[in-house]
Amino acid sequence: MKIFETHAHYDDEAFDRDRDSLLCEMLGASGIIDFIVNVGASWQGCVDSLKLADQYEKVYAAIGVHPSEVGELSEQDIEWLKNKAVSHSKVLAIGEIGLDYHYDTPSREVQKKWFIEQLKLAKQVCKPVIIHSREACQDTIEILKQEQAMRVGGIVHCYSYSKEAARDFLQMGFYIGIGGVITFKNAKKLVEALEYIPIERIVLETDSPYLAPQPNRGKRNDSRNITFIAERLAQIKGLCAAEVIDKTHENAVKLFGLKHT
Ligand code: NI
Repeated sequence: MKIFETHAHYDDEAFDRDRDSLLCEMLGASGIIDFIVNVGASWQGCVDSLKLADQYEKVYAAIGVHPSEVGELSEQDIEWLKNKAVSHSKVLAIGEIGLDYHYDTPSREVQKKWFIEQLKLAKQVCKPVIIHSREACQDTIEILKQEQAMRVGGIVHCYSYSKEAARDFLQMGFYIGIGGVITFKNAKKLVEALEYIPIERIVLETDSPYLAPQPNRGKRNDSRNITFIAERLAQIKGLCAAEVIDKTHENAVKLFGLKHT
């Protein structure tokens, strides 16, 4: 089976020079990628994600505004997102949305307000959410509980928290998104969490063009690098890479409510 890439940003300018040839190669008959979810981070990123989904059969879109980008959001933007989520057939999820206390701009209060607004929107349109949460574990869990996010579920993307926190996310029905960080030498806490998280609840992602795994760390990332992530996860779970690729594909199809192809 081919790979299900649950989180990439091919609208990024890093792909301006070869976007089309790269996507065609990866998604073509001899490519190794089956589906890509292109995730909007800014409002423009959402517009561009929808365009990519229109253009490529195997590219789907998630639309939402990243916590670092919510400073300029308005109620009108939320209405726009809602309209697109309902009317565009290839919108699979609302995201990426969440809290980022590493940068702390805009303020935590502003981030929380728009996180909650976008969670409410996801419930209205019945779509799963893609969560970006950095150095904000407790507040993220509290808000997800308070907003009953388990009604829609989704992915905690680029998971970086403990095994104990994973238990809370799993209890709320969330899947855990695993990317290049798993291949880094200092990933001890993540490895511990992954020993605990069942393979049935893990999905693979790259966050391209960011966070390329070893041995390509520091370079522009693309979805083909998921093979390195699958190999490392296979080691941790005592499986082979092909089993990891198949199982995580199945998980993503289920979570996004796609039909098996
Ligand atoms: Ni991302």
